[in-house]
Parts: sequence; C-alpha cells; structure tokens
Amino acid sequence: MGRKVTKAVFPVAGMGTRFLPATKSVPKEIMTLVDRPLIQYAIDEARAAGIKEFIFVTSRGKSALEDYFDHAPELESELRKKGKDELLEILKSTNMDSGAIAYIRQHKALGLGHAVWCARRLISPNEAFAVILPDDVIAAETPCLQQMVEAYEETGGSMVAAMEVPPEKASAYGVLDVAEDMGSMVSVKGMVEKPPVDEAPSNLAVIGRYILSNNVLRNLNKIKSGSGGEIQLTDAIAAEISEGRSVYGYRFRGQRFDCGSKAGFLQATVAFGMAREDLKDEFTSYLHDLLAVQRAAQ
Ligand code: G1P
Repeated sequence: MGRKVTKAVFPVAGMGTRFLPATKSVPKEIMTLVDRPLIQYAIDEARAAGIKEFIFVTSRGKSALEDYFDHAPELESELRKKGKDELLEILKSTNMDSGAIAYIRQHKALGLGHAVWCARRLISPNEAFAVILPDDVIAAETPCLQQMVEAYEETGGSMVAAMEVPPEKASAYGVLDVAEDMGSMVSVKGMVEKPPVDEAPSNLAVIGRYILSNNVLRNLNKIKSGSGGEIQLTDAIAAEISEGRSVYGYRFRGQRFDCGSKAGFLQATVAFGMAREDLKDEFTSYLHDLLAVQRAAQ
C-alpha cells in the first residue's frame, strides 16, 4: 500500500477575533513571529515533510494570504538591482510553484471538520492527506509533520499529533482515549472534543497536525454538529475507530506554542527570537537586564 502523503489542508478561515483589532484588516495567519508570518512556518513544515500540494480553506477577508504567496517581480528586481542577494533569497524561498496552491472558500463558519470537508474534491479517493493548523507552531529539530510522515509509513491508518497537557487544561482540546501506549505512539480507542474536565479520558491532547485516511472525509459527510455546535474533525476521526480502522496518537519531539492565544504568541516570539542567530545575543541580554531590573524592584 502506498503511504505517501503529498497534499496538506490548511484551515485558515477563522476570523481571529482573539487578536482584534489587528485582525480587523490582517488575517491572523499573516501575523508575524519574528519576521515571518505564521503561515510561512506551517508551509515550511509541510514542505519538509514532502508535501507538494497546498490547499487553503479560506473565507472572506483573507485576500492578503493569497497575495502573500504570489510572486513579487517588482520587489525581486529592485532587490536584484541593489545587490541585496540575501533578501532576494529570503523572498524567493516564499515563492510557491504555479498550480501548487489551491484556495477553497468556507462560506459559513461551521467548524474545523466542515473546513476540512470543504477541501474534499481536491483530494483523490483513497488518498491520505495531512492537515496543519497554523495556530499551533511547533519548534522541533525534525519538523513535527515530518516525524509523523515517517511514523505513518510504518503504521498507516490515521494519526494525530499528541501532547500531554495539565489535566485542568484538557477541556480546551480534543482528548485521546488510549488503548495501548507504545511510547512515542499510542493506539487510540476513542476521541472526545473539548470534554468537561471531569470527563476527559486522559490528559493526552490533540495538537494541530493530522495525517488522515480518505475515509475521514466520508465520515464528515455524515457527522452532525458536536462540541460548540460545530462540525468537529475529532468526531470524524473518532468515527474511524468505531468502524474498526486504526487511529494513532503521535507524541512528537518538539515544543508547541499556541499562537491562537495572545500569551502563546508572546511566548513563541520570545522563544523564536532567542533561537535566531542574528538576534539572540542582543535579545537575550535585553531579557536578562529586564529580569534583573524586575528582581531588584521586588
Ligand atoms: C482544534 C481541534 C482540537 C485540537 C486543537 C489543537 O481546536 O478542534 O481537537 O485539540 O485544535 O490546537 P481549536 O483550538 O481550534 O478550538
């Protein structure tokens, strides 16, 4: 059985109300972590995992996203003329091949499951595909989706990225009911979207990276609205289990930042700033000084 994954779906239709007023005119996915928009991190991760086709599920007000992936010939020729080769290379690394990107509109905000279902006609029958939620930024030596693609080549089935969270936080996530714990991988016997704290089957939470069997799209045809009145991807994956197909949770190696929240975004900014060769000395010494001043004032 071929287990190549070459397509990824990026659900980017959300309104990003948590970042108002910024998101009044800037899509959340264009917001910048150091100097790259969130979506660029997701694309780079997908490319590293061997993804060749990129499907964006967008909504009204997201045209800045489409522009971002367009070539910028005027800018490129200006940089070339001025001999700014380094910047030119950075710019070129964001270019996408013609025909590699497709945009689908989600006309109504009916949930993550519905957003993924909107992409169904761009995925061939029997083809497995990846889903990346750009809000979840993962710093890792081997990019998270690449780790998962490698694991998936061994297992098949469907796979979700998983991470232990404090039990009181589990109700903010999809949560796994574990059948067997094999270390970096668990087999899953159930999944619940945002369970009440006392009903969570574990504290192993779903993080926004998925490799899904095509059958999940068929399940989405049948799924009724679930948690929060939305069509949930979690429910369509859970349906795989009740139909006897394998679902795995993959404990990735890396640090996940919730860039869908302000605190998470700030933490990511600090961590990525400190990790950047060209910034780390100046930035880290600023943070040291800042902490020293704060301690002295206590
Ligand atoms: C989505 C998924 C949830 C998952 C989470 C990870 O929820 O529905 O299962 O745990 O992403 O970030 P959201 O955060 O969009 O409400």
